[in-house]
Amino acid sequence: MGSLDVTPVQEFPDTTWADDGPTRAVEATVEGGAVLRFPRLPFVLMESELRFLNPRFADGRAKNISLRWPVGDMRGAAGTASELAALKAMIARYAELSERLALRLFPHYRGALVRGNTSFRPVDVAGRATSWRKDDTRLHIDAFPSNPMHGTRLLRVFCNVNPSGQPRQWRVGEPFEAHAKRYLDHIKRPLPGSAWLLERSGVTKRRRTEYDHVMLQLHDRAKADAGFQRDSPQAAVNFAPGTTWVVFSDQVLHAAMGGQHMLEQTFYLDAAKQQQPGLSPRGVLERLMGRELR
Ligand code: SIN
Ligand code: FE
Repeated sequence: MGSLDVTPVQEFPDTTWADDGPTRAVEATVEGGAVLRFPRLPFVLMESELRFLNPRFADGRAKNISLRWPVGDMRGAAGTASELAALKAMIARYAELSERLALRLFPHYRGALVRGNTSFRPVDVAGRATSWRKDDTRLHIDAFPSNPMHGTRLLRVFCNVNPSGQPRQWRVGEPFEAHAKRYLDHIKRPLPGSAWLLERSGVTKRRRTEYDHVMLQLHDRAKADAGFQRDSPQAAVNFAPGTTWVVFSDQVLHAAMGGQHMLEQTFYLDAAKQQQPGLSPRGVLERLMGRELR
C-alpha cells in the first residue's frame, strides 16, 4: 500500500491462535490505527460444520447470527434444536480462539478486555444494506445510534471462512485524525436536553455523551458524503479465506464491499487501559478540540 494518508495494513506470519504463536505485544501497532492481518490464520471448521456456511441458518430478521456474553445465548439463528446447538458450539469456539489470540497480541489489556458479541455472517455483503446509515459498503468508523460507548474502545477480530475462495473485500480510508479534522468544524454541540430525551424515550440504551455525539456525527457525515466516499484517500484490501484480521473499528475507516461467510468477535476495552490512551478517538478528539468531551 505504502501511502501515508491511508490506514496501513501490517502483516504477521502466525499460523496458530494459541499462546505459542510468534506475534505478541503489538499494542502500539493496533493503537496506532493499523489493520493487523494474519493471512495464514484460518478458523478451521469441522466437517460437520460446513453445512452452516449457508444463509438459511440466519433467521432473516438480523443480518448476523450472534452469541451474547457472558451467558452465550444465541440470536438471529434458525434451525432444529440439534443444528442450533452445533452452530452455537462453532461460534463459541471462535470466541475462545479470538480471546486467546487477543490476549497474546495485547498482553497489556489482560484483565481489561471484555468479551462482547461473537457474530457469524453467512449472508452475502451484497444486498444487506437497508438504509444509508446502515450501509456498511460506505467508509465509516463504528458508532451506533442506540448504543453509546462513553469512550470504551471496540476491538474486533474477523476471520473469513468462505469455502469457495471468495475474499472479504474491504476498503480502508484515511487515518482517524485526518478524518476527524475533515468534519470537526461542522459538528455542533448536542442540543441541551437531547441526551436526556434520547435516553428517556428509549432511543439510546444509556446517555449519549458529547463524545458519542461526535463519533456518531463522524459516522453519519462520512456515510452521507458521496464526495468523501468517492474521492477521499482509500485503498482496497482483500482478505482471502483463511485470513484473520484485527482492528479498532471505532478508529479505522472501513467499508465491506463484498464477501460471504465470516466470523467476528468484538471486545470492549476501557480507553484508559490502552498503552497510549492519547491515541484513542477520545484522546485525538480532545486534543483537536482543546477541551474534554464529557
Ligand atoms: C463493518 O464492520 O462495517 C462490516 C464488516 C464486514 O462485514 O466485513
Ligand atoms: Fe463497521
